[in-house]
Amino acid sequence: MGVGQGSQIVSRFPTLPLGWYAVAESRELGPGQHLSRIYFGNKLRFYRRKSGDLRVTTPASLKKWLVREHNGLIFAWYHPDGTAPEWDIPVLPTNGWTDFRFRGMKVESHPQETSENSVDIGHFVQVHGFGDAWYERDLDIRRHLLKGAYGIDYMVFGKLSFVAKFEVEVHGLGYSLVRIHLPRFDMDIHTLILSTPIDEEHVHLRMGMSIKNWGAPVLPLLIREIASIRLAYEVAQDAPIWAAKRYVEKPLLAEGDGPIAEYRRYCKQFYAPLEGVVEQELAREQAQTSAA
Ligand SMILES: [Fe+2]
Repeated sequence: MGVGQGSQIVSRFPTLPLGWYAVAESRELGPGQHLSRIYFGNKLRFYRRKSGDLRVTTPASLKKWLVREHNGLIFAWYHPDGTAPEWDIPVLPTNGWTDFRFRGMKVESHPQETSENSVDIGHFVQVHGFGDAWYERDLDIRRHLLKGAYGIDYMVFGKLSFVAKFEVEVHGLGYSLVRIHLPRFDMDIHTLILSTPIDEEHVHLRMGMSIKNWGAPVLPLLIREIASIRLAYEVAQDAPIWAAKRYVEKPLLAEGDGPIAEYRRYCKQFYAPLEGVVEQELAREQAQTSAA
């Protein structure tokens, strides 16, 4: 990323962060099938043998990608230097839960920006119009894993109001798991927010939803569908803000404090090879915030 020639466009992120990224849904690639995708600014070629074995390569460089496949998704490990993974992403329960239902969209953003949404509860009220939002605990950061917990007073169709409790786990900037509990209905939902760079300016954002068995067998599928449409609607509310934020040199550090600053410190580890650059960017952001 760089600075736009003769314009005010300043990229907020120096490069693509290393980590695990969703690159396809398993159902898109049956035995004997292949497909091609552009991710990380490269053409990736997928091939599944009749035996079920999966290969992901970049034809131009002959690079063979390290992949994992579970919960209906194919993940690839991205590291700019080709270094091996330092962590794994969770395999979520399938027994007693519906399959994941995925929806996706291309947005003008970056994984650090889309994942920041998970810890920025300020925007829930302002952007999404929720009744109230509060942190249940401080952020818990252990190396690559960031955990947060918050609650939201949720309103649907302007009538039905209920509390939703969220436990967020960010396993690197491409993979966020949100465990949602609705006490009023004794319902549990797993939500995946998966942000995969297409290039340095765009991400393919996949949102997945799985519901723990609840009530009559068909009911969780119906709820999953409604919740999934609702989530896509909410993300569509965020998308223009992400796109606009790219052109604002001064970052929107809300009150310049708390979880967002902590989140940004957590993010630095995913740019290991360019840490010096990120340190400088953060110092610049902090200077601008305190001057504001
Ligand atoms: Fe949002």
